[in-house]
Amino acid sequence: MTASQNAGKKVYIETFGCQMNKSDSEHMLGLLDEVGFSKTDDIKSADLMILNTCAIREGAEDKVYSYLGAWARYKQKRPGSLIAVGGCVAQDAGSQLIDRMPYVDLVFGTHNFHRLPELIEQVQDTGKPLVEIAQTLPDDLPDTPVVRLNDISAWVSIIYGCDYNCTYCIVPYVRGREKSRSIDSIVQEVSELTAINYKEVTLLGQNVTAYGHDLDPKINLGHLLRALGEIPNMGRIRFLTGHPRDLSIDIIDAVKEVPQACEYFHIPIQAGDNRTLRRMARGYNIDFYKRKVDEIRSRMPDAAITSDLIVGFPGETEEEFMNTIRLVEEIGFDACNTAAYSPRNHTPAANWPDQIPEFEKGERLRFLNAVVSEVSHKCNQRYLGTSQEILVEGKSGRSERLTGRTRTNKIVNFEGPDVLIGQLVNVSITAANPWALRGALKIEAELCH
Ligand code: SAH
Ligand code: SF4
Ligand code: F3S
Repeated sequence: MTASQNAGKKVYIETFGCQMNKSDSEHMLGLLDEVGFSKTDDIKSADLMILNTCAIREGAEDKVYSYLGAWARYKQKRPGSLIAVGGCVAQDAGSQLIDRMPYVDLVFGTHNFHRLPELIEQVQDTGKPLVEIAQTLPDDLPDTPVVRLNDISAWVSIIYGCDYNCTYCIVPYVRGREKSRSIDSIVQEVSELTAINYKEVTLLGQNVTAYGHDLDPKINLGHLLRALGEIPNMGRIRFLTGHPRDLSIDIIDAVKEVPQACEYFHIPIQAGDNRTLRRMARGYNIDFYKRKVDEIRSRMPDAAITSDLIVGFPGETEEEFMNTIRLVEEIGFDACNTAAYSPRNHTPAANWPDQIPEFEKGERLRFLNAVVSEVSHKCNQRYLGTSQEILVEGKSGRSERLTGRTRTNKIVNFEGPDVLIGQLVNVSITAANPWALRGALKIEAELCH
């Protein structure tokens, strides 16, 4: 495909799901940019519309069908425009997407999006819909070009797929086996980012704490953090999502010792009950998880610990649900993503007989959310009166305030001049709610001059 063939053409992309999907979308934009497509935020002017989908829960999947219904009308109004569907729903549903929505031109999966330009070209040349799903990633992971949507903080995928088989989760089915990128290619990518002044990188994986176990020689996330810490002008380093079982002391020590690594651990526990954890096949029990929390807090008392929680897993009793509530209070999570269990194709728990009724799941979720927000509020109040280093990311919503994050990933809003966007500043914390902090900029000597 030549760039001139598509010169002046526009691509619109919508991304659902996790940060890995968001990162994949940035690489899709990079690949398409090389062949002449520039990004637009106006779907009406798009020659190519891409939906990068998520299959984690039924709600996310339903959204795909309602979006595509609306996109069909845009396509009608702009003859020659194309609709492509990628990501986890596409990987699972494949040609069924076109059977159900014949106006879709291309379905591609999670393992072959680096071939997007040639797949688009094929559709352009033949005028026929195309479905291309691969079952594995290529042996040699290509380093794909990228158009980053944020110029302060960058996503960097370091490991793809997941080798666990949690009984509720579709991710291993749609993302395949774990495959780590080489440390050299990650260090190279991050060095390029720091050279163009990126202030933060977030290392991504469905199980980022398993990084390196499949490489020869075998390494771990701790090695990678230490290597990244050596890069000149390296800004903050974060990583998502960790599995408690793979969060070794080595990794925790590296976070403590590498100054740029942020004291922020997202280690989903999913449930606070041992029987539920066993039936989820999580591979740890509550005591194990609490030991991990102790290992973190004994080294970094101010570290933030966040989690994901599922309520209404099949067979979860009221008492077992209350164990989750008690655990949230006992650990004192800084924040939690919560969800009602959603039965997924290709997962064992979806076929278990003891499904919890929707209204009961809804009630448990509301109760859990209330407790999580109370617990987060308490954590946030601990910041009152402290001084925090904030990376300023932009404006807060439509307000004139600036917004940024602490090293522990707390959102902080405060008054200040736009020139601070992209800078590290110190802010005194003056107010705390469950989701964010308010602060006042500390006037630094150099700003007064
Ligand atoms: N790899 C991460 C989680 C990735 S999926 C881990 O192991 O912790 C992101 C989150 O979606 C999960 O943590 C889980 O809380 C939620 N999730 C996954 N499958 C789900 C399902 N079937 N129903 C409800 N929530 C689910
Ligand atoms: Fe899903 Fe479990 Fe893998 Fe996380 S560890 S992605 S929850 S199978
Ligand atoms: Fe969703 Fe796929 Fe991510 S299912 S959460 S987009 S790996």
